[in-house]
Amino acid sequence: MSRAVSRLPKTSIAVMGGGLIGMSVAWELARAGWRVAVYEKNLVGGEASWAGAGMLSPGGEMEGPSPLASLALQSRELYRPFVQELEEASGLAIDYQECGALDLAYSPSELQVLAARGAEQQAGGIVSKAVSAEHILAFWPRLRREGLAGGRFYPNDAIVNPRELMIALAAACRKRDVTVRQNCAVTRVRVLETAVEVEAACGSGSYDAVVIAAGAWSSEVAIEGVPRIPEAEPVKGHLIGYQQPEQTCTTIVRHGRTYLLQRASGLLIAGASVEHVGFDRQVRREVVAELAQEAAFVFPHLGETTPSETWIGFRPGSDALHIEAWHSKRLHLAYGHYRNGILLAPATGQRVAAEISANLGAG
Ligand code: GLY
Repeated sequence: MSRAVSRLPKTSIAVMGGGLIGMSVAWELARAGWRVAVYEKNLVGGEASWAGAGMLSPGGEMEGPSPLASLALQSRELYRPFVQELEEASGLAIDYQECGALDLAYSPSELQVLAARGAEQQAGGIVSKAVSAEHILAFWPRLRREGLAGGRFYPNDAIVNPRELMIALAAACRKRDVTVRQNCAVTRVRVLETAVEVEAACGSGSYDAVVIAAGAWSSEVAIEGVPRIPEAEPVKGHLIGYQQPEQTCTTIVRHGRTYLLQRASGLLIAGASVEHVGFDRQVRREVVAELAQEAAFVFPHLGETTPSETWIGFRPGSDALHIEAWHSKRLHLAYGHYRNGILLAPATGQRVAAEISANLGAG
C-alpha cells in the first residue's frame, strides 16, 4: 500500500468506534486517500484504550504458532514506526519502552511450565531465553528473593502508554482531515448494494463502506442487509497503580496471571482480573486486594503501600478476532481483539485499509 496520501477521493468511509482500533483504521484509511468520519458514542479513547496497561507482548499473550500470533508479531514490528509517525504528526510525546519482559518461576514446576511454553512459542517465532535466579536478582534487585527458581526473558516485548498514544493518534487523525463525531452514538446501519447508510444521534450519512470497530459494544447496533454480525462481549479487568518515586520495574514482570509494568511517569501498574460480568463498572475492593497481594508477592516493597489508583476496563471479547469483510464489500469488522487491542492496533489499521482499498478500488 502506498504510504503517501493520494488524490482527495469523492468517496468516503464511516468508522463506528473511536477507540485505538477505530482511530488506527481511520488513520490508515486517510493515509490511503479516503475521506473518513468516525462516530464515537462517548469520548474518543475513553474505554479499553484508556484502561489498558499497554503491554505489547506476544511473549505474554501468545502460546504456540497461530495466525493470531503471526499478526501479533507483525504488529509488534510495526510499533516503533507507528509511535514515531504519530509523535511527528501530533507533536506529542508517547511513552514507549522497548524494555522486554521477565516471566518468573517460584518453584521447579513453574520453571518447567515456562520452559515448555517458551519452546512452543519459539516454533511460532517468539524469542525467549532461560535466566537463572542469580542473574534475575542481580538485574532486578527489588524482586522477591525467597523461593525464586529462575525465569524466562522475552527481549522483544515492549510497553506503550495507551492514553498518550490515543491522544496523539486523535490529534494526528484530525490533521489528516478525519472527521471525529464524539458523543454521537450510531443507531442504525443499512448495507445496500451501492452504499451504506449510517444513522446516528448527531445526524446521518451515506458512505461507500462502514467499519465496525466499537470494541465490546460492536454488536449493539443492528445492521440491516446482512446476516447478524458475531456477538461482541465485555470481559472486565481490574487494574491497580502505585505512584513510585523511582523506576523499580524496568521491564514487564510476570508471575502466573499477574503482570507488572512501570510508566516513565513512575506509575507502576499491576493487572489484571478476567471477569465475565457484563458492563459492570464497579471497582471491587476484594479484586483490588487480590491484585495488590499478587503485586506485593512479586515486589515485596509494594506491600508497604496502598495503590494510588484503581480502575477497570472492558476488553473487547468475541468468539474470535474479526478483521474481515462481512457478507458485503461495504461492511468491515474490526473487533474481538480481547487482550491484545493495543498490540494489534497498527496491523489492524493497515489490514482493514488495504482490504477496503482492494475491495472498492480507490484510495
Ligand atoms: N493485555 C492484558 C490484559 O488484557 O489484561
